[in-house]
Amino acid sequence: MVDVGRHPNIELHTLCEVIEAKGYVGNFEVTLRKHPRYVTEDCTFCGECLQRCNVFAEDEFNVSRGLRKAIYTPFLQSVPRQYVIDDKACIHFSEEGCQKCVEDCKKHAIDFSQTVEEETLHIGATIAATGVRPYDPTGLYGYGDSRFPDVVTSMELERMMSPEGPTKGEVIRPSTGEAPRSVAFVQCVGSRSEKDGELAYCSKLCCPNTIKNTFLLKERFPELEIYVFHNGIRTSGNRQERMFREAREEGVVFVNSFPKITEGHVLTFFNPLIDQQWLMKKEFDLIVLAVGIVPTAKEISQVLGIPLGKRGFIKEENQLSPSSTPTNGIYFAGAVGSPADIKQCIEQAGNAAMQVSKHFQRDTAELSSIIAKVDFERCTGCGKCSKQCLFGAIRIEDKVAVITQALCRGCGNCVNACEFDAIAITNHTDEQIKAQLKAALSEPEDKIVVFACHWCSYAGADFAGTSRLQYSPNTRIVKTMCSCRVKVDLIKYAFALGAPKVIVSGCHPGDCHYLDNNMFTKGRVMRLRDKLSSKGINPERLMLEWISASEGQRFVDAIQRMEQLRVEEDEIEMSKMIFSQPKKKRSKEEDKIRSQSDFIA
Ligand code: FES
Repeated sequence: MVDVGRHPNIELHTLCEVIEAKGYVGNFEVTLRKHPRYVTEDCTFCGECLQRCNVFAEDEFNVSRGLRKAIYTPFLQSVPRQYVIDDKACIHFSEEGCQKCVEDCKKHAIDFSQTVEEETLHIGATIAATGVRPYDPTGLYGYGDSRFPDVVTSMELERMMSPEGPTKGEVIRPSTGEAPRSVAFVQCVGSRSEKDGELAYCSKLCCPNTIKNTFLLKERFPELEIYVFHNGIRTSGNRQERMFREAREEGVVFVNSFPKITEGHVLTFFNPLIDQQWLMKKEFDLIVLAVGIVPTAKEISQVLGIPLGKRGFIKEENQLSPSSTPTNGIYFAGAVGSPADIKQCIEQAGNAAMQVSKHFQRDTAELSSIIAKVDFERCTGCGKCSKQCLFGAIRIEDKVAVITQALCRGCGNCVNACEFDAIAITNHTDEQIKAQLKAALSEPEDKIVVFACHWCSYAGADFAGTSRLQYSPNTRIVKTMCSCRVKVDLIKYAFALGAPKVIVSGCHPGDCHYLDNNMFTKGRVMRLRDKLSSKGINPERLMLEWISASEGQRFVDAIQRMEQLRVEEDEIEMSKMIFSQPKKKRSKEEDKIRSQSDFIA
């Protein structure tokens, strides 16, 4: 932090909230709300004001286990080296109008006239690194429910062991102030649980952190009795596994069990592998709850318009770009993307910095050659495309859709959303895809048309080929960037040309390279299957299959399943007849009326 504060190329904005962000890569406009510090840059951090102030408030940095003054520094290494005044605690802002710190500051650095200000910055790229907070176990049944003074969280123990902590580094029983003779760690508190309000994931760092703490405690109190109750210790890599072994050699007892805390700090526990009975009761002086981590990404994701995953962490663009969000120019680093330890956070920060630096190497940003284009003649400004664009690339201006090219990813979902054929994807137009279908089905007999997304399914088919897996030579693959580009009209067109069987394939749910766009595909294909059945056409002739890049065999299996399906000649003729009915051409006026109708709403 200190290095960051001193770096000539880094401008630090502290006590700020990002309240608005707009624009695109290389051209973002970010508005900050700056909260007053009430202490100017003239502050030399001499500490005179701190001596004079006698108003106390809860110390958040020490997990409210201690007190701090109303003028304070959040922690010793905090940057910049200036005090800050907590205006909620400071009695200058109450009726008393205290001026003690002002009187004692020789540098006249106290300025109570400061107010909340807003500032707009023009920036090229953003890295979200808002971190995580510890899970609050209060109210968890069976873990003391915060009723017992000697039950603390891992974060509280951490602060207790710090020389700058509330006990100046002394590990004590909060109830008596004495050193403990026995300590129990309870792992996975509120973690790896599907219950409401608990964390469904493993936070990754609680097990190594507990093992580290057992070493520190053993160093201070060699006679200390330490038990670790766990649900399977998770240590990965050479170093952590070695520490786990050494902790056991030091005499730390690891018990695979789910304990329950009762009066008098007694842990009752059982070994789930042996029996479901409560086996043993034991009293401990101090019980430490190893709590997981909770992401703090909600606000920043709303402001930056980037999506969150199911668990509340920032969603990565795809697994091959672990620091990139789906919006070009916005990256993230640290545990805000998924639980990570310090080493992983540093690696990710380096990765995000590299991604940003590539934008500095030239004055222009590279645009994809596959992006959406609007036909203003046909666009009615209904806004349906803009609602379905998960990248925020489409806005409605003067009653027509306008594409921000730098934000468009070329997935093609908007093409499907448009009722009026007003959007096309450059180099992947309907006409081009239809031409491929025409060529593929010039002799339609027994052909299996496969629409495959570029990123997974097409690569899966390719993998099947390079692995020399055998599949029907009647297979005809049509590549699209994402399965969501497969317009229902294109499937109908394939049937109209006499295709007996059609497969739409894409990445597995959660793996789509365009957020969750493959879920739109699922909805469309399912609806079309229903439609086929209602028209007396066997819906099995249309298959939806998720195939990843490494699933060559799955691709082959899908083809073989389709091959086994018998489709009679008259069925093909019927679908040909139904789907070759020409679409009624609507005038722009008709489209406008239609866009305002209930159907579109
Ligand atoms: Fe494969 Fe979207 S990229 S389904």
